[in-house]
Amino acid sequence: MAKVLLLNGSPHADGCTATALNEMINVFQESGIETELIHVGSKSIRGCIACGKCGKLGKCVFDDDLVNQAAPKFEKADGLVVGSPVYYASPNGTILSFMDRLFYSTPFSKHMKVGAAVVSCRRGGNTATFDVLNKYFTISGMPVASSTYWNQVHGFTADDVRKDLEGLQTMRNLARNMTFMIRAFADAKEKYGYPELETGCFTNFADGK
Ligand SMILES: Cc1cc2nc3c(=O)[nH]c(=O)nc-3n(C[C@H](O)[C@H](O)[C@H](O)COP(=O)(O)O)c2cc1C
Repeated sequence: MAKVLLLNGSPHADGCTATALNEMINVFQESGIETELIHVGSKSIRGCIACGKCGKLGKCVFDDDLVNQAAPKFEKADGLVVGSPVYYASPNGTILSFMDRLFYSTPFSKHMKVGAAVVSCRRGGNTATFDVLNKYFTISGMPVASSTYWNQVHGFTADDVRKDLEGLQTMRNLARNMTFMIRAFADAKEKYGYPELETGCFTNFADGK
């Protein structure tokens, strides 16, 4: 069965972001897609220290929180949804620390796993936040699912979000599009195989050194 892993960067397990993610989970479950939601935002997640140890260990050097536990779940998943409240027009700090470490420390291929970012704000900064989160996917060969609007809800409380009918509709349509993409990629992998990618160039400067 196809599986989608969802991350909630908010410290509120029943807040605005969770309300948006739960709207997606209902659609996934109706469609026969397995889901798992991890609440990241209430945990103490430190940032990446660029020690590079993950290159040898195959996991983050800090083994004291959710990142290394989430990694195998991400590896098995066909899709990843990352939800974040907007803090000063950016994703909240906890989800950024988590995403930096999750993406940097994991050696497995993320190629063709479907990604989606979901953001919740009271009033502004949602599209800037959305851009930041989508960049984890697009540097990793992950196709990004879209919807009938940018993937955002508005509210200060979960009750506000329940009144954001267009936001919730956007979440349902996002889950439908993601479901389609996951199934279409699985079929296309059988029929054509995934594209072969070149590797080996790691160029920082104009002279290649
Ligand atoms: C530190 C902090 C910064 C915030 N910055 C913004 C902001 O820039 N724009 C905005 O519209 N709302 C901002 N908010 C409000 C939250 O983004 C908003 O209430 C969100 O929907 C809460 O989602 P949650 O219930 O999932 O935590 C901020 C809240 C906090 C705690």
